Amino acid sequence: AAAMAAERGLAVATCTAPVNIAVIKYWGKRDTDLILPINSSLSVTLHQDQLKTTTTAAASRDFTEDRLWLNGKEADVGHPRVQACLREVRRLARKRRGGNEDTAALSLSYKIHIASENNFPTAAGLASSAAGYACLVSALARLYGVQEELSEVARQGSGSACRSMFGGFVQWQRGERPDGTDSLALQVAPETHWPELRVLVLVVSGEKKPVGSTAGMQTSVETSPLLKHRAEVVVPERLTQMMQHIRERDFEGFGQLAMRDSNQFHATCLDTFPPIFYLTDLSRHIIALAHRYNAHHGHTKVAYTFDAGPNAVIFALADTVAEFVEVVRRSFPPATNGDQFVRGLPVGLAALSQELVAAVVTEPVPGAVQYILHTKPGPGPQLVDDPSQHLLGADGLPRSRA
Ligand code: DP6
Repeated sequence: AAAMAAERGLAVATCTAPVNIAVIKYWGKRDTDLILPINSSLSVTLHQDQLKTTTTAAASRDFTEDRLWLNGKEADVGHPRVQACLREVRRLARKRRGGNEDTAALSLSYKIHIASENNFPTAAGLASSAAGYACLVSALARLYGVQEELSEVARQGSGSACRSMFGGFVQWQRGERPDGTDSLALQVAPETHWPELRVLVLVVSGEKKPVGSTAGMQTSVETSPLLKHRAEVVVPERLTQMMQHIRERDFEGFGQLAMRDSNQFHATCLDTFPPIFYLTDLSRHIIALAHRYNAHHGHTKVAYTFDAGPNAVIFALADTVAEFVEVVRRSFPPATNGDQFVRGLPVGLAALSQELVAAVVTEPVPGAVQYILHTKPGPGPQLVDDPSQHLLGADGLPRSRA
């Protein structure tokens, strides 16, 4: 914290944080204020080389008001979830200092400026609130010199954000206590645990989701008997199974359970009244394609999962990626010249056999998939040391972006 001490002028901290994709889904809160879930969930943290949020938090005695910028545009710093994160990090800082304001520590009464940016287009519809709140909490904690357990704080920004506080494979334990102190994220295995695991994000559209997850899951809690059964009976069993598949690096077990859990989540959406639809005709087309591909090979080589939006996330082992990417390219021929259709980690070339094409590539839909992002499991939030990487300049205002 000494490095962060405001000698005079500006104290600054910058962090990056990852996106995560759940393989046992979180859907439903038992406490909407504290964001306490009705079931535990489990996710894979994605690598920040491909998808990340960067956040700079700065404090100064010269700032006259709290301010927030998201992707270069000023946003509402008074948002209740942003305020909850700020309040909780400051509370931990105060606790750490044992009440007496340490003169070396940054004053908790200074106003703050926060700037946050994604390295991926928001329009791509990739969930960014998890990375966003994980990053906000990490940057604030660094600014105030807080080193305590922070997933409990990130959870109060967005439920799924608590899982972005760790890399690799992460469980969000639902907890039992009404105050939420045991509703935290725990790392199940680090990103190095399963080096062959790869992730393909099939970005299908820039459309905004019809019903946000916060509102959608509340309607589900109020109306869906399937969701109640899922939370009480199905998820506890699946969580144990999923942890074992991950521990054993059993791709078939992992993939099948991930698909089933995604499907059940979307079934609870249909069971919600009025029903919520996140899957589209294209999502169903991708689901059918994955099953035809697996059937052709006689075992589970790819697995899909969908959140509250139409993008498909595909899990596969490294040796399957080139062939499956070619299958996707043939099934959804790029609208333009195909430039940048595959982004992220390099993908090798694969020649498809006649049999594979005949069995799997039925009725191509040109232009339906915008692009494929190739990534893999990655680490948790990172501190950015290089001062040239701060998003706020010496004047405490956003740096003009190149
Ligand atoms: C379908 O974490 O976005 O992605 O807690 O209300 O902010 P709030 O919801 P959010 O919900 C994510 C739901 C999901 C499944 C998951 O990530 O587990």
